[in-house]
This record gives sequence, C-alpha cells and structure tokens, in this order.
Amino acid sequence: MTEKNKILVTAALPYANGPIHLGHMVEYIQADIYVRFLRLIGKKTIFICADDTHGAPIEINASKQGVSPEELIAKYSKEHKKDFSEFLISFDNYYTTNSPENKHYSDLFFNTLKEKGHITQRIVELTYCENCGRFLPDRYVKGKCPKCGAEDQYGDVCEKCNSTYKTTELANPYCANCGKAPIRKNSLHYFFKLSAFSRNLEEWLGENKNLQEEARNFVMGWIKKGLDDWDITRDGPYFGFLIPGETNKYYYVWLDAPIGYIASTDNHTKNALEYWKNKETEIVHFIGKDIIYFHFLFWPAMLMGTGFNLPDKIKVHGFLTVNGEKMSKSRGTFITAREYLDQQDPELLRFYYASNLGQNMEDINLDFDDFKNKVNSELVDNIANFSYRVLSFCNNNLDSKIGTVRKSEGTIKKVEEKIEEAKEHYSNSNFREAVKSILEISSIGNQYFQESQPWHTIKKDRKKCETTVATAANIVKNISILLAPIVPEYAEKIQKQLGIENQTFSNLGFNLENHGINKARIIFSRIEGDIFRIKTFPIMLRVARIESVQEHPNADKLYILKVSLGDEKRQIVAGLRNSYKKEELEGKKIVMVCNLKPAVIRGEKSEGMLLAADDGNNLKVLDAHNSSEGDSVSIEGYVQTSDEITFEDFMKVKLTTKGRKAVFNNMPLKTPKGEITADVGDNARIR
Ligand code: MSP
Ligand code: ZN
Repeated sequence: MTEKNKILVTAALPYANGPIHLGHMVEYIQADIYVRFLRLIGKKTIFICADDTHGAPIEINASKQGVSPEELIAKYSKEHKKDFSEFLISFDNYYTTNSPENKHYSDLFFNTLKEKGHITQRIVELTYCENCGRFLPDRYVKGKCPKCGAEDQYGDVCEKCNSTYKTTELANPYCANCGKAPIRKNSLHYFFKLSAFSRNLEEWLGENKNLQEEARNFVMGWIKKGLDDWDITRDGPYFGFLIPGETNKYYYVWLDAPIGYIASTDNHTKNALEYWKNKETEIVHFIGKDIIYFHFLFWPAMLMGTGFNLPDKIKVHGFLTVNGEKMSKSRGTFITAREYLDQQDPELLRFYYASNLGQNMEDINLDFDDFKNKVNSELVDNIANFSYRVLSFCNNNLDSKIGTVRKSEGTIKKVEEKIEEAKEHYSNSNFREAVKSILEISSIGNQYFQESQPWHTIKKDRKKCETTVATAANIVKNISILLAPIVPEYAEKIQKQLGIENQTFSNLGFNLENHGINKARIIFSRIEGDIFRIKTFPIMLRVARIESVQEHPNADKLYILKVSLGDEKRQIVAGLRNSYKKEELEGKKIVMVCNLKPAVIRGEKSEGMLLAADDGNNLKVLDAHNSSEGDSVSIEGYVQTSDEITFEDFMKVKLTTKGRKAVFNNMPLKTPKGEITADVGDNARIR
C-alpha cells in the first residue's frame, strides 16, 4: 500500500453515445470499491470521471437523429449520472470532456509538445465521400477485405479473417452512410512522435512495481516491435476541439479524452496541478483491457513530454460475459444499467462483481444461476442472517444491551487474523479474496454463536450469554465495516441497528462494549424465482425482397409473391391487390414474419406474412429500403423467439406506427442498418 496520503483515482470516461451497460459497470463498481476502501482507511482520495463526448460517432449519430452533438451528449450525460448514482458510484466529480478546462489543457498539451518538437506534420491519404462531403472514418466505410475477400467489412478490421488494414486498402469500398463509392483524398495531419518515447516508456514500465505483469508484458512486446507515430488529427465535420491555428482540423478524440482526467480534476479542485504536478500524490487509473494501448503508451508519453505526473498504478480488468457468452442484444444479455436497476438491487450486483474480481485481466462472467446462489448462500444465509440472529437475540433477551467481551476468547484472535487478510486483499485490489476473508469471518461468527448456545446460557449463566452476544455483535460490526466498500448502504443500515455510525477501518476490532442497540431488521432476503427477466417478442421478423408478383388465380383481392431472404426463397399470399399495382411491389424490400405456421390460402401455399400498416385511409407495406434482404428486424430490449406461431397468436401482438415508423411498445423496429418506416399516420394497425 502506498505511503502517500493524497490519491486520485479515475475510471475510464464512457462515451456519451449510448447507455451505460453491465459491462461498463464492471469498471465503475470496482473503482468505486477501491475508492471507498481508501477513504475508509483514512486516505485523502478523490474519484474523478467524465463523459467522453467527442469523436466521429457522436457527430454522425447526432446528425442522423436530427439533433446537435451538444444535445446528444447532454442527454447521455444526464442518463449516465443517474445510473452511476443509483449504483452508488461515489464520484467526487463527474464532468464532461467538452469543457473549457479540457480545451485549455488540450491546447496546453498540444502546444507544449509541438514546441518541444514532439509533433510533426505529414500528408495522409484518406477515404472521402464526395456525396456526404466528409472523410470516412473506419466504421463509416465498408467494402471487400483486402486479405481474404470477404464482402461488407468495415474499414479497419475484417470480421472474417481478423486482419487489420487502412480504409484506403478496402476493395470496392462504399460509404456506409449513403452507399456511394468514395474517393481517395489527401490531408495534412499532425502526428505525435510516439516512437521517440520508446526508451522512457520501457524504463517506466520496468520500474513501476504497481503494474500487472500481464499488461506490462503486452506493452513491452509492442515497444519491442517498434512504435508508430500517432495521428492526432481528424478533418471536419467532427465534434471536438479545433487544433490551434486550423479552421477545419480537430484533435482526435483520444488526444483530449485522457486529458479529460486532468480537466475534471481541475473543475473539482480548481487547481489540477495540485494532483498532476505534485510528487506527494498518487494517480490510479482503472481501465478495461481494450484500452491498454492508449493508457500504457500514448498517455504516459504525452505526460512525459509535458512534465506532468505519470500514473502510479493502472488496474486493468477483463470483459464481462453474460451466462458464459459475449453480451448480445439478440439473446437479451446486453443489459443496460437502467434495465438492471428496474428489476434488481444494485448492491447485489456490486457484491457479485466484487466476489468475482481478482487481480488479473481475465474476463468476468455474470451467470444468472451463480448470481442467485451466491446472493442466497453468501450474502443472505451467511452474512445477513448472522447479523439478524445476533441482534434480534440481543433485542429479545438482553434488553438490547451489549455487555463486555472476553479478549482472551480464541474466536477473537481468529477473526482478527481474517480482518488483517481482508485489508491486505483490499489494498491489492483483490476483491474476490477480500470477500472470501469476510465470508470466513461470518462463518466463524455463525459457528461461534451456534456452539455457545446463548439460548441455553441465558437461563443458567447470564454472564456467559452476555459475553457471547457481545463478541458476536462485534463480529457483526467488523463485517459491516469490511463490507462497506462493496455494499455501502447495507453497511450503513447494519451500523444503525448496532447504534453506531460512520465506522471506518480504524473502528475494526472488539471495542464495542456496554452499548445499547436498536431493533434488528432483515435487510437482504433470499431471491426466489428469476434474478432477471428477459423480455421476449414472439415474432421473427426479417427483411425480404419481392422478386415477382402474380395475381392469385382464385381470389381477386390477393397476390402471390415470390420473395427472397438472401439465403432462402419463399412464396407468400398477400391481400394487396386493392392497394398496390404489381410493378409497385416488385423489387421492394419489405418486412416479413418468418415463424408463422404455413397455410394454404385458396389453394396457394403461403409461407409467411408480409407486414403492412393500415390507418383507415391508407394501407402501406412496411418499408425496409435502407436494409439488406435477410437482415433481421429487432426491437431493443426484446429477445425474439423463433418458435412457430399461429395466426391467432400473431394477431395478439400489437404492432403500430408512430412518426412514420413501425413500433412495438413505443420501441422502433429496426435492422442493423436503420429503422423500418411506414408511410401512414400514427397509431395505424400493422399486420
Ligand atoms: N471513451 C473511452 C475511454 C476514454 S478514457 C480516457 C472508452 N469508453 S467506453 O464507454 O467504450 O468504455 C469505458 C470503459 O468501460 C472502458 O474501460 C472499457 O474497457 C469498459 N468496458 C466497456 N465495455 C465493457 C465490457 N463489456 N466489459 C468490461 N468492461 C467494459 O473506451
Ligand atoms: Zn456518403
């Protein structure tokens, strides 16, 4: 543990471009546990974070939604703050990178690095869409992988063969926004000369004893291979800070994002240098393994080049899997913080994550069954029940009074050893082991209480009974203090029942004697049933292209359509003859129900159903022209089930329209490429 008394802890700044999800929470919960521990052992600690608000995706998404980037980031900033506060994340400051402080420090870094010769200019050839009037970043250009030839790959990495390349290397590129073929265009960019810092970085990595071995090895490997200079420029339109002296060139978001740590500190303390240039302080970053490169190379090099403090510790964690697999929207395991909070107690997730977080970078798995078992057997049966048992016994048999403990008791020594262990694990941010030690204390307490049989001794040896309860109550107190970084509200409630408050680690021990307590109450109870319900939607919808249209020979209102789903063709019968001419339908991309029980309609087979909206005046087929045939159509927050459904079941699902869009419970129907539109008024019936 550090000798320094002033500590600054950061968690990575989440993008202001989407909701916080349970993957993010792995980081914010673990950083918060560490911060709360530091505060409880008496370290002067500040916990700093912010929204990461700049970059191409934010600018493009805002423009797609018809709002300004400022409006978009304001919306997410509000949501993020609310989510974090309900998860009890105790930031001292949660700021934004789109701030005057951040502009000031970004310019200070850029100008200083430039003056010192660490920045150079070079012409780069980029992909440019003349139709959209913008350079296309990695994710906004698609084409054929230059290595394996797979179609429809993004401009940076091929999902089929995993090779990485530049956007200009894509074969047959097209703009992901408008579909037109882009051109190549030159632009003059600023580069940060990262390679010049190789030696210093190596030295820092070698000397710093607080870095995880695994992370250090990775980074050393990259340095050995040789570092490339870093392109820190992006051409407008871009949402970010203009580079000094430029009119349409901006800092790349990853330049000003980590500087956001300093800017948020400055906003909080009014003098960031007190932390960032003062050798008496310690800086600790918590990050995920996907952003190691930025935090172990670019960032320390920028700090070296400008004379700011380097991080003393960077704790890297792995990624969250849910039920053993990558979080997935279609399986319903992409769970946002809000969805979790709507259904479950945040302290249970804090406890579950803590019991799974070790010191290394391995991924952590949220398993629904394991979650339930852990909460029930460890948090409820072992810990919460122990405290209720002891305190309610004291209420009922000893007039709510704790007497004196006998210090020579063997149990006390055992518990004191475990307390030391737990503290040690906390300071190594090894929360899994800390939880184990705390559970052991609770088991020792349970066993001691059981074996001492206070319900018998109360009748014949009241003194002995008082000692038992006093000792057990002190164990309850110790557990509450040790658990406070993980489940702070639980700890506070238990301490209230014990008639004490604001306990810190200096209160650990067996000194609570001759003291009155309050009424015992149950705080956590067993989870019965599912820990988390996944919402389902019983219809499988996909985009189909109409290949041909024919009149139904036996019905004058019906057409027979041949449609393609990309990987398969089907025939469907549709009642559209009063609303559409054949030519109007041919070639159209529509939305089709794929899991409907096949039927024969007036002698013609129908293997699905095409969706159309009817507002009473018009009947219009749902339109998916932005999407590709075969794309699945989904609704955020819902998992689609593929079981075959009957026409009656289908009719029970209320699909409707709002603002020219197809919606279910107000959520838009969409494919990976866009929303499904319907050219009719609101509240039309879709079927
Ligand atoms: N904006 C950057 C960080 C800039 S720091 C100067 C960023 N944002 S993020 O929103 O994508 O991620 C924020 C943090 O959450 C990162 O540390 C990232 O590793 C972590 N996680 C995001 N998804 C995660 C999981 N699924 N699992 C665990 N952590 C994950 O990166
Ligand atoms: Zn375009």
